[in-house]
Amino acid sequence: MDQAETLTIRRPDDWHLHLRDGDVLRGVLPYTARQFARAIVMPNLSPPVTTAAEAQAYRERIVDALPDGLDFTPLMTCYLTDSTSPDEIERGYGEGAFVAAKLYPAHATTGSAHGVTDIAHIRGVLVGMERIGMPLLVHGEVTDDETDIFDREAVFIERILAPLIRDMPGLRIVFEHITTAEAVSFVEQAGPQAAATITPQHLHINRNAMLVGGIRPHAYCLPVAKREKHRLALRKAATSGSAKYFLGTDSAPHAKSAKENACGCAGIFNAPFALESYLAVFDEEGALDCFEGFASLHGPQFYGLEPNQDTITFARAQVQVPEQLEAAGAPIVPFHAGETLGWKQVD
Ligand code: DOR
Ligand code: ZN
Repeated sequence: MDQAETLTIRRPDDWHLHLRDGDVLRGVLPYTARQFARAIVMPNLSPPVTTAAEAQAYRERIVDALPDGLDFTPLMTCYLTDSTSPDEIERGYGEGAFVAAKLYPAHATTGSAHGVTDIAHIRGVLVGMERIGMPLLVHGEVTDDETDIFDREAVFIERILAPLIRDMPGLRIVFEHITTAEAVSFVEQAGPQAAATITPQHLHINRNAMLVGGIRPHAYCLPVAKREKHRLALRKAATSGSAKYFLGTDSAPHAKSAKENACGCAGIFNAPFALESYLAVFDEEGALDCFEGFASLHGPQFYGLEPNQDTITFARAQVQVPEQLEAAGAPIVPFHAGETLGWKQVD
């Protein structure tokens, strides 16, 4: 399999995606819909998506923004705040407006100002989610000033996540965009209630990519890339074949001017070559036979959905990633800008 010249797998889904709204939504959506059948759409708009009615309206705006001929299903999420009501969550999940709810600790990242200031404030919501089987998607970083930014994920596990799964053993949790060996160990030990998404950037880069030879804002996202041993642990986990890990790009577009800035935004726009990027990793690790599980099977299995019936095919071929792309009139720099990747989507 490793030397295969083409690779055909069931069509993948993206289990963690930022699509934004308005013109940017129109600009970025085609890149995702070209590759993925479905995506879990993050709710960190401004203002955030906190009710079933807002999620329905946002879903409609996404479907309206879809170019003719592309088939794509957005799966909507609810942004949890200190005042989210358990009834709204339960009703929204029951009527299919939400597939999951997202926990952003307040001020952890872009668009998290309305996030949860103390998990105790949403205990009632979590009890309800555990009862109805609704997945909780977690941005796993503490936000206190005393904790170093490179330690924020590991401290979150200790302080918040480990006690939470002990307290609520039936709560289904996706630990989003994991970046550390500690997160991998946590997910391994946690039993079937917990799974994790892994981004392409955290499989490709460590923190040197951001800081060596000059500060490189296009390698900056949150959680921030860590040291090399963590990247290696993530690569091992993603390519292990374990159903606890699945694809979630965390593609997070920001205009070039907002990244190349004295206070540059966090987020890497990886949607244009997302699958080519992951494929490079699976190929380098000699694990092409595990790619379909990670990209197309483990996610649906965790969410209780059928895998997609149609397929996507890649061929070994050089693909040049442009230095920048136009999305809605504003240039955006994609992940791998200026690099050549070794697989090309052919069908
Ligand atoms: O780098 C990030 N960008 N991390 C997040 O958690 C949010 C995202 C965004 O929305 O830009
Ligand atoms: Zn995200």
